[in-house]
Amino acid sequence: MTFTLGKINPNILRAEVALWDAIPLLSSLMIDTAFLGSRVLPLVEETAEDWYVAHRHDSPDGSYSLQIFVWPPGTETKIHDHSSWGVYCCAVGSIFEERYERLDDGSRLDHARLRKTRQRTWSIEDGASSVLPHDEGIHRVGNPGNEVAISVHLYGPRLGEVDGRDYDVSCDYVCDRRED
Ligand SMILES: [Fe+2]
Repeated sequence: MTFTLGKINPNILRAEVALWDAIPLLSSLMIDTAFLGSRVLPLVEETAEDWYVAHRHDSPDGSYSLQIFVWPPGTETKIHDHSSWGVYCCAVGSIFEERYERLDDGSRLDHARLRKTRQRTWSIEDGASSVLPHDEGIHRVGNPGNEVAISVHLYGPRLGEVDGRDYDVSCDYVCDRRED
């Protein structure tokens, strides 16, 4: 007997399966006092103007990337997506996340029309947020509060050359994002 995936994108399916493994792994880090004490809590004293990645560990085979983000008050990302799956938890303070869906069919170069579908905040007791690659994970993350926030992110392998895409809803624009 053979099975067909029909219209299911096998890359998305693989990403969903990987997410189920990644969520408990990341959740276990959130109660790992040695990890939090050595890698996360010292960052509370950081004074930066914009958000940044304070620590990053990429697996040698490219299968995952663990990254710790610092969010000074009032900072936020562009609306963006990723070329990989991703899971994150907010370890210190709280961050907001807006999620978007794409309304156009992707046929026009540099054009994307988005609609915000939901918004919420995440604190350590809220567990993990997750994104699937490309259109399945368009979001914006930021810190609307008055105190620094710190989040821990686990990303899977990239499905393409670029890191992801950045969107500008004011002019329905999208462009590839490459790492520095
Ligand atoms: Fe993101």
